[in-house]
Amino acid sequence: RTWTDQTSIIHEEPIRKVGIIGAGAMGAGIAQLVGYRGYDVVIKEINEAAAEAGRTRVNDLVNQLARHKKMNESTREQLLGRIRIVTEDEPLSDADLVIEAIVEKLDVKRSVFRALDRITTPETIFASNTSSLSVTDMATATQRGNLVAGLHFFNPVHKMELVEVVRAKETNDVTIARLVGFVRGLGKTPIVTADTPGFLVNRVLFPYLGEAVLMVAEGHSVANIDKEVRRFGMPMGPLELLDQVGLDVALHVSRSLESVLSGLCPVVDQLAIMVEDGLIGKKASAGFYWYLNGKKKGVS
Ligand code: NAI
Repeated sequence: RTWTDQTSIIHEEPIRKVGIIGAGAMGAGIAQLVGYRGYDVVIKEINEAAAEAGRTRVNDLVNQLARHKKMNESTREQLLGRIRIVTEDEPLSDADLVIEAIVEKLDVKRSVFRALDRITTPETIFASNTSSLSVTDMATATQRGNLVAGLHFFNPVHKMELVEVVRAKETNDVTIARLVGFVRGLGKTPIVTADTPGFLVNRVLFPYLGEAVLMVAEGHSVANIDKEVRRFGMPMGPLELLDQVGLDVALHVSRSLESVLSGLCPVVDQLAIMVEDGLIGKKASAGFYWYLNGKKKGVS
């Protein structure tokens, strides 16, 4: 079990049981990875229908991994057996770490953190997967600001190497060290960032993505922009990447970055028009491109 690796880094209790709030794109992806690395995982969803949709998502991701790793049936079943999706709070009460991956709304996240504060042990670490909100603002909903941090996985979780560990105003060093150890134990590369808009990666990435959005608004071809940028050496074009991330998520990130980056206002306007039209990317089968059964078919 990889959590034992962490004992060489810090002399704190290692993280064994992980809770996740939300079994959407990110929550399911994190569960697949964390379960694969040997942790027991409990995901909490909002109701039975959402839990069922989450189970399908987790099953698909586990099956994909099982094929990729040529797992035998019993290993695959053991992995699936380590990931439970529930609708009650109680199974989270003895988690060492709870990762929140729900809708990107501060008031909803704060109320989830407030509730978690009541039901978990006082030592449980809370981490948010937010890409655009202030982790410090979430931490103040709890009585344990020193144990609250950001843990920003990228999409898709199983492919993306980097995880940002976000230090909020009151996060203590032990919490950061435990999360850094946890991320290393998952086989990913942690970077510790400040709790400022866009953290590190999105602050650098979004001006680039935003220029591609503006070029489309100016009449340039979606497919050509992506093709040329891929030829330059990027694994994926900027518009394909936006579809993958979700234009709704990208809109939130762009809005949060307006306070630190000038020139994003027209990008926010363009993204908002597409989001209003339901063009939110691959998850809705339509964004800059349209998709059938998850496969890109053409420009929207
Ligand atoms: P999603 O919309 O796919 O999933 C959210 C899930 O949370 C849904 O299944 C929903 O039923 C559930 N949920 C909502 N409120 C809940 C509550 N109170 N309790 C329990 N479950 C609840 O969202 P996605 O894309 O997975 O994003 C989740 C978080 O991760 C957001 O904060 C987002 O900004 C962040 N993020 C998203 C990335 C992306 O590329 N999609 C990348 C990195 C971070």
